[in-house]
Amino acid sequence: MSGREITERALAVHRLLNAQRPGPTRSLPHYRRIPLPDVEPPRDGLVATLARRRSQYAYADRPIELATLSALLRFSMGVQRFVPAYGVDEYPLSMAPSAGGLDILRAYAVIQRAERFDPGVYRYEAVPHELVELSDTDPAETLEQVYLQDEFGQAPVTIALTARLDVAFDKYPLRHYRTLHVDTGIAVQNLCLVGTALGLASCAVAGFDDAAVAHLLGLSENEIPTMLLATGHPA
Ligand SMILES: Cc1cc2nc3c(=O)[nH]c(=O)nc-3n(C[C@H](O)[C@H](O)[C@H](O)COP(=O)(O)O)c2cc1C
Repeated sequence: MSGREITERALAVHRLLNAQRPGPTRSLPHYRRIPLPDVEPPRDGLVATLARRRSQYAYADRPIELATLSALLRFSMGVQRFVPAYGVDEYPLSMAPSAGGLDILRAYAVIQRAERFDPGVYRYEAVPHELVELSDTDPAETLEQVYLQDEFGQAPVTIALTARLDVAFDKYPLRHYRTLHVDTGIAVQNLCLVGTALGLASCAVAGFDDAAVAHLLGLSENEIPTMLLATGHPA
């Protein structure tokens, strides 16, 4: 079976599980690339951070600083190392391991309040460590439809994780539909732990409306939202 046929089957399963048809899609233009600064890793030890991490549901109004947002993305989902693989000398592997090391997951920052960023939707590019602005529309109203719980709509930043089914199923059979959710779990735990070490409050959120997220991020049909992380400074 071709990768395209497996992707179609995975999408059929996905829609069945969500009881949702794909909503109207919109492709977002790329406005500009915003480099993120190099930052030092947080110093807290792993076990202390694991012991301190908890889900938090209230966030301060103040913006997330540029260096903090940079560190959150860099140390949870940035490039860890380059290896020869998949026909290239320098294939990037992430801080969050994935099945086959495949570059299936994408991270988006939906920003309401972050230093130096206008409210809008941005896609994280790990290799250059930058955010690509996709939309400069204030996401506040759409976030009300995205989250099934109101409190998360107040979070200054939402990190949205997505999986690219076409990339996954060009290499793997249909059962990889499960593995890409494991990849997502690893990435969201990285985000929670790095966020905790940086003093951020956050919560992994599975309660979201798939079609609303896909619309907000301008996803193509082959890319599915898998997890949100609401984050900001603790209230
Ligand atoms: C994969 C995942 C999805 C979650 N989704 C939600 C959610 O949609 N809404 C919510 O209020 N909490 C959500 N949580 C937070 C859990 O309820 C929380 O982790 C759990 O109650 C344990 O509390 P703790 O994180 O403070 O240790 C989620 C957590 C995980 C790991």
